[in-house]
Amino acid sequence: MELEQEELTGSDEVSEGKAAYPATASTKKVFVKTYGCQMNVYDSQRMSDALAADGYAGTDRIEEADLVLLNTCHIREKAAEKVYSELGRIKALKAERAARGHEMVIGVAGCVAQAEGREIIRRQSAVDLVIGPQTYHRLPEALRRARRGEKIVETEYAIEDKFEHLPKPRRSEIIGRGVTAFLTVQEGCDKFCTFCVVPYTRGSEVSRPVSQIVAEAMKLAEAGVRELTLLGQNVNAWHGEGPDGREWGLGRLLYRLAEIPGIARLRYTTSHPRDMDDELIEAHRDLPSLMPYLHLPVQAGSDRILKAMNRRHKAADYIRLIERIRAARPDMALSGDFIVGFPGETDADFEDTMELIRSVEYAQAYSFKYSPRPGTPGADMKDHVAEAVKDERLQRLQALLSTQMHAFNLAMSGKTMDLLIEKPGRQHAQRVGRSPWLQPVVVDETAGEIGDIITVRITRTGHNSLFAEPV
Ligand code: SAH
Ligand code: SF4
Ligand code: F3S
Repeated sequence: MELEQEELTGSDEVSEGKAAYPATASTKKVFVKTYGCQMNVYDSQRMSDALAADGYAGTDRIEEADLVLLNTCHIREKAAEKVYSELGRIKALKAERAARGHEMVIGVAGCVAQAEGREIIRRQSAVDLVIGPQTYHRLPEALRRARRGEKIVETEYAIEDKFEHLPKPRRSEIIGRGVTAFLTVQEGCDKFCTFCVVPYTRGSEVSRPVSQIVAEAMKLAEAGVRELTLLGQNVNAWHGEGPDGREWGLGRLLYRLAEIPGIARLRYTTSHPRDMDDELIEAHRDLPSLMPYLHLPVQAGSDRILKAMNRRHKAADYIRLIERIRAARPDMALSGDFIVGFPGETDADFEDTMELIRSVEYAQAYSFKYSPRPGTPGADMKDHVAEAVKDERLQRLQALLSTQMHAFNLAMSGKTMDLLIEKPGRQHAQRVGRSPWLQPVVVDETAGEIGDIITVRITRTGHNSLFAEPV
């Protein structure tokens, strides 16, 4: 399988101008481009919902957009800089539209908006609106003011709950979006790893209430969603008061969601090793619908570096945790995030990371060169690692991970497994679904309809996908 560097957690453009709603002659058009993690994907969808209620239809043609919204990521320097080069390009389009008498409001949302605020308008004056992740429910109002010519910066942490105030998507709007869906259950982070901007851009940890989550999950299920992925920057830190009056953790919530008719598969991401409690591990043992795939970033394998990163656990704790998880669910596949070249990382520290990878054996992984972020403690540490050393370490680390991912896929050959059919394949007469371990699996279109869960046998393993026939 390919090293999908930034798909889960990074800065790649994850989607562009998805036309979620059909346009009519009178509607205005919005082009949304999403960078970064799945939380941004979810937020973009909710912003589109809010804008739809305001008469904006989605378009994937930026030149015809009355509103361009970039939902941005601040996690690494490259991610943030990408936004400015994109804005330069959009400025030219705005001028062209103005020359033809058309409006183009430019909005910047997401983590760059939160981190840089008004600075964005200072650097790129074509931007009309800057809105941080905690204030999306105020988007329609902010947009009205921006259209009157005001420059708007909304980056206060609102006291009200943005989820409660965003319009609820209507069933008709959810239908047709697919059989898998994201549901944000938790946002923000109190962990303050010394390399990371998230606690500053997303604010402190907030959990959505059980009733809100269950209601949204039921609505998604009624609209045909079969697989639900719960999202949070620290999803396993989620907690809330259950209908029984007791304090629930993520494990208990998963038991509840597994009862919803139609929901056949559950996943959650991203977890922190320190928040994997017993009940969550038991849920993996007890719930067949909880998929045997866990993204559990460790970042580094050296205790010294883990300490400097403020991860607050040792390498051995992580290994022991994985043993416990695998004891509960023996077919569990692990995925991780790694940073190479954190300040002070020596060759020996790096070798510890390689050793940890060898002992865990990952099915998937995302790895990055350390990128100093302004305002984080890591940026001010001594002994920054030379770029060339980071490059060399990243290459070696990725070569090892790539071997493991490839071995994981090869081992699927001849196996029988369940497959959720998600969409038409790229080739004629094919359909594509996902294995329980998130691998894309290609079958003949006669194998079943989109949304079906069928049993298949793997006949061939490709570089990125598996090929199967129904049994
Ligand atoms: N909450 C998640 C991670 C969120 S950020 C967790 O705690 O695991 C996603 C990933 O980006 C991190 O896991 C880390 O590997 C990477 N990352 C974060 N900040 C970084 C930085 N300054 N330089 C390089 N990689 C970084
Ligand atoms: Fe960032 Fe650490 Fe929080 Fe993850 S746990 S979001 S890496 S500060
Ligand atoms: Fe990026 Fe913000 Fe997500 S910094 S990774 S978009 S939480």
